[in-house]
Amino acid sequence: MRKIVGAIMLSFCTILQGQVNNMVIQADKLGAPIQPTMYGIFFEDINYAADGGLYGELVKNRSFEFPQALQGWKAFGNVTVRDDGPFERNPHYVRLSYAGHSQKHTGLENEGYFGIGVKAGEIYRFSVWARLPQGGSEANLRVELIDPHSMGERQAIGTAIIKVDKATWTKYEVELTPNVTLPKAHLRLFLRGNATVDMEHVSLFPKDTWRGHENGMRKDLAQALYDLHPGIFRFPGGCIVEGTDLDTRYNWKNSVGPVENRPLNENRWQYTFDYKFFPDYYQSYGLGFYEYFQLAEEIGAEPLPVISVGLACQFQNNDPSAHVPVAELDPYIQDALDLIEFANGGTDTQWGKLRAEMGHPAPFGMKFLAIGNEQWDEIYPQHLEPFVKAIRQQHPEIKIVGSAGPNSEGEQFDYLWPEMKRLGADLVDEHFYRPESWFLAQGARYDNYDRKGPKVFAGEYACHGAGKKWNHYYASLLEAAFMTGLERNADVVHMATYAPLFAHVEGWQWRPDLIWFDNLNTVRTVSYYVQQLYGTHKGTHTLKLTMDGKNVTGAEGQNGLFASAVYDADNGGYIVKVANTSDRYQQINLQFKGMKKGTVLTTGSRILLSSPEMDVENTIEKPTLIVPQEQSIRVRGQSLQADLQPYSFAVYIVK
Ligand code: AHR
Repeated sequence: MRKIVGAIMLSFCTILQGQVNNMVIQADKLGAPIQPTMYGIFFEDINYAADGGLYGELVKNRSFEFPQALQGWKAFGNVTVRDDGPFERNPHYVRLSYAGHSQKHTGLENEGYFGIGVKAGEIYRFSVWARLPQGGSEANLRVELIDPHSMGERQAIGTAIIKVDKATWTKYEVELTPNVTLPKAHLRLFLRGNATVDMEHVSLFPKDTWRGHENGMRKDLAQALYDLHPGIFRFPGGCIVEGTDLDTRYNWKNSVGPVENRPLNENRWQYTFDYKFFPDYYQSYGLGFYEYFQLAEEIGAEPLPVISVGLACQFQNNDPSAHVPVAELDPYIQDALDLIEFANGGTDTQWGKLRAEMGHPAPFGMKFLAIGNEQWDEIYPQHLEPFVKAIRQQHPEIKIVGSAGPNSEGEQFDYLWPEMKRLGADLVDEHFYRPESWFLAQGARYDNYDRKGPKVFAGEYACHGAGKKWNHYYASLLEAAFMTGLERNADVVHMATYAPLFAHVEGWQWRPDLIWFDNLNTVRTVSYYVQQLYGTHKGTHTLKLTMDGKNVTGAEGQNGLFASAVYDADNGGYIVKVANTSDRYQQINLQFKGMKKGTVLTTGSRILLSSPEMDVENTIEKPTLIVPQEQSIRVRGQSLQADLQPYSFAVYIVK
């Protein structure tokens, strides 16, 4: 956040011209507590968010399990693929044998994900499982990071040697330090001499991962998550949880235990849009449930796993035979119960023991579980019911998140909400990828929600411009405006997460997204900053804020303004968020009512997001084109006045 040097003074005696928008904040009556889970993140392996993104692995198809075993690799010399390897659930491996002449070469080259991004002077950890299948005392592998497009004398930018010296499968490791920074390096392996070597699970990670974990995450991307101050972390996705068919649903049990033995899964985002088709997009499960729980803990968010309710993706496959009959749901329900044991069980339980073996003996303290993603029709409550019964019986402490289907309103939505209430879901997950007009009209969406029903989880949302689905500034502004309505209704809205989270600039299928990246850089979008402003300044209690006695929701006569206010008991101050969606400057007067006589507000700051142009966005080339600007303000008395730029979002923090 940029801080502007020099303070401006906004005081009760500022003389305003023209129409003043008088907003009254009831400062002496604390409203609902704001849940620590209020703002968070939703992670799904779409747009190469996991493999090729957050997951630090740089080698594509490291276990040779892609349906085309050498996809992502170029083999040269004498290379064969075999399938009786050491890891039961990943049986394929490669055999490298003598090329037949001392001048010829056997080996492999991996292209990574849109290349391999490496930085000069940084250390990369190469590892491989290998053996000498035909005995012998030793064989050498030369490991190289190369610049495949080099115009120089040599392609190698970093080299190391591995000596394979055992007949049994053994893990070998070596470090590589490239001497130049390259966004699109390749990894090349040469077999030296005339021995035969078998290789499996060929891996390359930056040594400097997020929190230094060996099976770790890309540091800049994990840091971007941390910096959002998220309170909730929903994973591992939406549609990928369901699978195009149930065989390809996200199976959390396949995503835990030693990485070498986590089986590959299809990724439905490989083929969902044939106009953005990525035939090499699979889920290695290297980033699995253990890693998600650990990340949640490290970024300070409550974990919210989503599991299959036994229904395949209804968009892709709504033939009843695609789904599990209710009478045969037991294994799916057991998966849910086992997950609770994996997260929270003692180390003397089967799944708690595995968690401990993986490095986390203490429970993860999971409190929430979502069952099903965007399901609809009677078939969903029918499937959900036995899950609810079993979980309530064995784990009444777990809060269950049900779904309101894929739409923000309409027949399915209207059917599912009462059903979720009937089943006693604790929260209902609503999704809305909607145009600008929808966001402008929904400032009061939750003002009249049923206060006695389940709480709301706005689990997937983003403003999609009509005909321009990118991260343009105006969309982010409208998200900020809409979120004042979430905040005002924090008694009923307990969680909200933008979606999708990540996108690789070369591998995206869906946009807008919160964070863009290439192999070396990250771009925080304006929507990211909106989420960050809410997450950082969420306060502890709502405060009533009105203009002419009404909530400020962008309604007619409110000059395109949306506003909400909170009290921050942790820091002892007031936070007011105002979005000006109009094309005019708006004079606003914030009046803090009910404060004790003699109490004066004296200090504060204003953080502003604004842009003169609506269709611009932060990009790889200009990642900081639009960032929040912080300005200190001096306040005197019990009110402050300010001019708010056209099309801007301001957070006022006063004490
Ligand atoms: O966020 C992308 C997709 O949108 C999610 O997988 C799904 O839940 C929704 O349809």
